[in-house]
Amino acid sequence: MNKSLLWLLCCCLLLSCNDQGELLLQYFNTGNLPATYFTIDTNRDTLLTTARGAVIRIPKGAIKGKSSQVRLAIKEAYDASEIMLAGLHTRSNGKLLSSGGMISIQAADGDAEIVQPVGVSLPSNNYEADMKLFRGEWDKDSMINWTDPQPLIPDQPLIDRLARGKMVFNTNCAPCHHPTKDATGPPLVFLSQRRSKEWTLGFIYNSAAMIASGDPLANCIYNKWNKTAMTAFPALTHEELDDMFRYLDQVSKNLNPADYPDVAAGLDSCRAYYNARAALERRRNAQIEDNGPDMKHVFLDTGTHPFDAPENLVAPKRANSVQYSFTITTFGWYNIDAFAMNLPGFEPANLKVSLAGVHTGHTNIWLVIPSAKVCVDGGLLKGEDKVYGFYTDDGQLSLPLGKQAYVLAFTEKDGQILFGRTAFTTAKNNELQLVPAPASRENMKQMIDYMDLQDLSVTVAPAKNIDTLQRIEAQLKAIEQLKPKGQRCDCLPYDPAAYPNAAGNAF
Ligand code: HEC
Repeated sequence: MNKSLLWLLCCCLLLSCNDQGELLLQYFNTGNLPATYFTIDTNRDTLLTTARGAVIRIPKGAIKGKSSQVRLAIKEAYDASEIMLAGLHTRSNGKLLSSGGMISIQAADGDAEIVQPVGVSLPSNNYEADMKLFRGEWDKDSMINWTDPQPLIPDQPLIDRLARGKMVFNTNCAPCHHPTKDATGPPLVFLSQRRSKEWTLGFIYNSAAMIASGDPLANCIYNKWNKTAMTAFPALTHEELDDMFRYLDQVSKNLNPADYPDVAAGLDSCRAYYNARAALERRRNAQIEDNGPDMKHVFLDTGTHPFDAPENLVAPKRANSVQYSFTITTFGWYNIDAFAMNLPGFEPANLKVSLAGVHTGHTNIWLVIPSAKVCVDGGLLKGEDKVYGFYTDDGQLSLPLGKQAYVLAFTEKDGQILFGRTAFTTAKNNELQLVPAPASRENMKQMIDYMDLQDLSVTVAPAKNIDTLQRIEAQLKAIEQLKPKGQRCDCLPYDPAAYPNAAGNAF
């Protein structure tokens, strides 16, 4: 036996103690006790339960051997006769320690030493409140020398602590929580895997304060559970809650975490995804802005005249072009001054066009009356979100009556041109409906040519930055892969402003 290797963890109830607090045990011979052998991987935390019910927790790295596989021989003695057999003696007064138990852990073969504390919990019926933990070392005469007695409190028997944890749970939490099933509140298994301890303690001590502080996770869970208030537990100690977490860990041990998917583990991945997305969206917006407006009206001669416009003119809304830009070119046509100047043959009338099926705020809508050379773009009427007019925001204008007229609508969505047109004969009151539909560039051109608008032409061309924008769109699709699978990001609502420094990818 290599002297330097043997450590003993002995939980003893001290019956007699010498004045100097010197260690009482002189020597013992563990050769009389049967050993149980365990091979452990020292790179991992290990929890061993012996046949006699002791629980030994060996943290990662606590035992150092030549390789990471170390074989341990564990010996246990719990009653007086076993302890006698093992040769336990007190040194100063010859009195035997009444031992709560003795456990010896040593390397079974090869070199290995314990370099960090190893936790030992005795079977609960061997536990006494005033036990102390001793460390035994062989001295040069092969005598055991007990040193460094430690109170056992910080390392109470696991079994007791589990029992207490279960009791804490049953008394305080079980009225609303089932460990594994939905109840008034959510199941709590895998709690320590899913949530940081700090967050969990904060929630248990005062969930209302956490929700009020705007914590996204707390708010999300609260909303998911229909804003049911959870009791606050300011009186539970950290120790009691630690035991309860331990109990939940134990319940969780044999369950599959995949059956309890949750958002917390996904929060970081959600952030990574949002960060990439915010960067791309910022780039995309800059390109779109740089493209300029999606619709231009080119007057080949300036047939317009200054006039006093009423205050309540409709205002055409221009979006910036994403992939296409539309141009209307006219020669010698009237814009809104046709209505303002009351040209001969024009009479007060009403014209309202409602658009369906498109995001109307970004739709360009035009009224064309070829015989009067009127080509005017429209805007939303007052208080409306899809009804358009072409002069004042109540739908009033002057019209030459009984003439062939058209309303045209242009927009794009997801790289697709949407185009609509409707033909009508002008009357005093005109109420029209228009549904723009997907169209190719050729399609749209054919439909416009068919109307025979003479010297008015409409062209559609790729937007200035179409290539870059298409690449960004493809990347935006690709980064959907970054979105955590099987987990929802709905506890972390997307707010691009929260990722102001996200760097864009190089193109
Ligand atoms: C009165 C009912 C009630 C009691 C008692 C109660 N809870 Fe809750 N608990 C809830 C509800 C409801 C939720 C869901 C969130 C919300 O509505 O605030 C919740 C949520 C939680 C959460 C967050 C769950 C998650 O997925 O992160 C934890 C942790 C929690 N409770 C722990 C406890 C513990 C520990 C106890 C006992 C000490 C306890 N609760 C007692 C009702 C209760």
